[in-house]
Amino acid sequence: MTLNWVERLLVDNPVRSLVQRRFEASLLFELGGPVDGGRVLEIGCGRGAGVGILIERFGAAHVCAIDLDLRRLPRARRPGASFVAGAAERLPFPNRSFDAVFDFGVLHRVPDWQAAVAEIARVLKPSGRFYFEEVTAAALDRWIYRALLKHPAENRFDEARFLAELSA
Ligand SMILES: C[S@@+](CC[C@H](N)C(=O)[O-])C[C@H]1O[C@@H](n2cnc3c(N)ncnc32)[C@H](O)[C@@H]1O
Repeated sequence: MTLNWVERLLVDNPVRSLVQRRFEASLLFELGGPVDGGRVLEIGCGRGAGVGILIERFGAAHVCAIDLDLRRLPRARRPGASFVAGAAERLPFPNRSFDAVFDFGVLHRVPDWQAAVAEIARVLKPSGRFYFEEVTAAALDRWIYRALLKHPAENRFDEARFLAELSA
């Protein structure tokens, strides 16, 4: 699902980029470590702030970034990155082509998120890693989310369901 105007205001701004860099990326780095010289895919890249983090902080050699809506990307593109318009449920990449896949808050917006998980597994190399930060059904059920934000009404996941799908 693409973002409504409230969601665009919330994610397409420098404060969101700072939170992503300082807190989310730090935690993911602590948990998963670097991807030195790796070929990395970011799903749902939005305005593209994650790409810089993956190159500078995680040491990715190249980042492919995909999003349903690339109109929010800044004009200036950075070396080491390529951007593709498309859906996480139908990744236009060969099997086993990435050392790591990153998801900064995207799969909870995908109605068939299980299909996206299967695609992520398909494009990861056998030794590849999936880094994610996600929003659970309980959080999506808070009044502020219901009032202002637009998410799939069905097929939401809690932590256990999400982790079980990753294991499968
Ligand atoms: C909440 S925003 C997060 C953006 C960015 N990752 C961040 O952390 O700031 C979710 C992003 O996922 C994208 N998106 C939603 N459904 C998608 C799908 N099925 N495939 C690819 N991207 C998708 C949206 O267009 C949006 O840019």
